[in-house]
Amino acid sequence: MELGASLHHLHLTSPDPQRLADFYARTHGFMAARAGDRWVCAAPGRTLVLSAGPANQLAYAAFGFADDGAWRAFRAKVAKHAAAEVPPLPVACDDALAVRDPDGNLIVFALRPGAPDGAPSADGLPPAHLQHFALRTTDPAPMLAFYEGVLGFTLSDRVQDDEGTLRACFLRTENLHHALALFRAPMQCFDHQSFETTSWDDMKTWGDHMAAIRETIVWGIGRHGPGNDVFFMVRDPDGNLAEISAEIEVCAPDRPAGVWVHEERTLNLWGKAIMRD
Ligand SMILES: [Fe+2]
Repeated sequence: MELGASLHHLHLTSPDPQRLADFYARTHGFMAARAGDRWVCAAPGRTLVLSAGPANQLAYAAFGFADDGAWRAFRAKVAKHAAAEVPPLPVACDDALAVRDPDGNLIVFALRPGAPDGAPSADGLPPAHLQHFALRTTDPAPMLAFYEGVLGFTLSDRVQDDEGTLRACFLRTENLHHALALFRAPMQCFDHQSFETTSWDDMKTWGDHMAAIRETIVWGIGRHGPGNDVFFMVRDPDGNLAEISAEIEVCAPDRPAGVWVHEERTLNLWGKAIMRD
């Protein structure tokens, strides 16, 4: 049984958060508002917080629970691992705890997190909600063990090389195929965030929007093997990837974890892939 949580928002650091806020306003329809030392970028179904710091680093990722029972079960199991203070959140919630994964990434879990104050109710672009994010790690095995064994994420698919070494894995917290992807890479950093839209038509509209603002699609359009989602990606000024996707696999609770070969075709059934390692 999945955790019963959904990815709610991300906080990234950047040497120039204003430039990043401007980029995401232009490309993904966010309304950016300065709040002290943070930029809170909001659009329907998606929130992104930015602050000054190194490029390509996650300050934290926040997951939301809607159900009291699921929250209580999670809290009872994970509270003893809550070594971290909950950072200031841009939204109200009823309860929260934070943990650090083996790489030191801060992961926040909140009960009923809301939308940021003043968040727009419509942005004129097709719907696209923040659905998953991905991290690069030098050693995905202990990360997988932590997310699966300690936090209770569900492994949907693993990618391994000929020696059986784990090269990537995809974990879900609800029925959608992955809320978190981990890629083995020479460095530890943020990889991408993905906004899931509702249809092929919406993918086309998002692509035409990028064309209209002369933003280059750097990967895709393609279809990932694990997750079966159709996607394209643009790259923000810091080098982080930002994905628009559709048709991500809806998993049954008892779906067995899949195993994929580490090759370009796995990451893009239609052609070329960005290989992280
Ligand atoms: Fe993705």
